[in-house]
Amino acid sequence: MPKRRDILAIVLIVLPWTLLITVWHQSAINPLLAARKDDRHESRRDSQNTFTLKKPCSSENNKDIVEVVHTEYVYSRPPPWSDVIPTLHVITPTYSRPVQKAELTRLANTFLHVPNLHWILVEDSQRRTPLLTRLLRETSLNYTHLNVETPRNYKLRGDTRDPRIPRGTMQRNLALRWLRETFSSNNRHSQPGIVYFADDDNTYSLELFEEMRSTRKVSVWPVAFVGGLRYESPQVNTLGKVYGWKTVFDPHRPFAIDMAGFAVNLRLILFKPQAYFKLRGVKGGYQESSLLRELVTLNDLEPKAANCTKVLVWHTRTEKPVLVNEGKKGFTDSNVEI
Ligand code: UGA
Ligand code: MN
Repeated sequence: MPKRRDILAIVLIVLPWTLLITVWHQSAINPLLAARKDDRHESRRDSQNTFTLKKPCSSENNKDIVEVVHTEYVYSRPPPWSDVIPTLHVITPTYSRPVQKAELTRLANTFLHVPNLHWILVEDSQRRTPLLTRLLRETSLNYTHLNVETPRNYKLRGDTRDPRIPRGTMQRNLALRWLRETFSSNNRHSQPGIVYFADDDNTYSLELFEEMRSTRKVSVWPVAFVGGLRYESPQVNTLGKVYGWKTVFDPHRPFAIDMAGFAVNLRLILFKPQAYFKLRGVKGGYQESSLLRELVTLNDLEPKAANCTKVLVWHTRTEKPVLVNEGKKGFTDSNVEI
């Protein structure tokens, strides 16, 4: 039978240790919880420009974990400007309609992922509208906001889509003029650049922008859902040269390619100051050729997207695309993932 004195001694020894261990354990957990609260405040404060994602620690459920690995992933939009990669000057004609804001929001969200992107948005309107002025300001993208109204006699009549009426042509030409005036060819300090015509209703993969960045003269690639096909594409031989076009709609066009299917080096745009899209006397589908024939020959074209075997851009319209029976025609490979 232990004496009362012995029991008291044991209690006096054990109690301080128990208290010490409890306090030590608490102080190891609390800073982690406090840090998590701080993180939530921080990310709310920064949410206008940056996202900071932190791996949540699981210490709340497992009290034995005292060491937590903090993996930090910092993502900023747009990505920081780089002085070593060419700028992508992306030209978008746009006109007022119910889905305009939705289309441009979608487009801006894509562009926010692309480094060194300069968006030239050209409104088909008498004035720059407050709607787009605000939208552009709020995106935090690098942009230039222009406007020119297409004369009424060039516009669509009612709901009929007359392919001979060019859409967005005057707007693209204004952007070309702006580029020439801004980056005159003798300006040694101008950063290398690429020019791309991105209509407001298409869907663009991020990979596409990295493909076009290395364009020396004019680069080309397939475009999905155009000309009645699942996709149209330049034809590329085993030497990696473009020798024709996989299209059903007028394959004899000099450049049977959609606006979304090519990019041009800015130097070439500056070097050929007379090259513009033709507004008059251009048959349907010949708009792209009217510019490209002023800039290059077939032999100059640089195929991208794995020698034109990958689809990285989709010509998307609100209407369902009407596709021809490719099985019979055998124009494009139905195994290609679109
Ligand atoms: C097809 C091509 O993909 C276009 O690049 C080409 O301009 C057009 O044909 C043509 O040759 O007319 P499609 O889908 O039929 O395009 O045309 P939209 O997407 O309706 O228009 C092309 C671009 O021009 C869009 O960015 C659109 O917002 C703009 N646009 C259209 C205007 O700025 N004003 C208009 O009155 C109509
Ligand atoms: Mn379109």
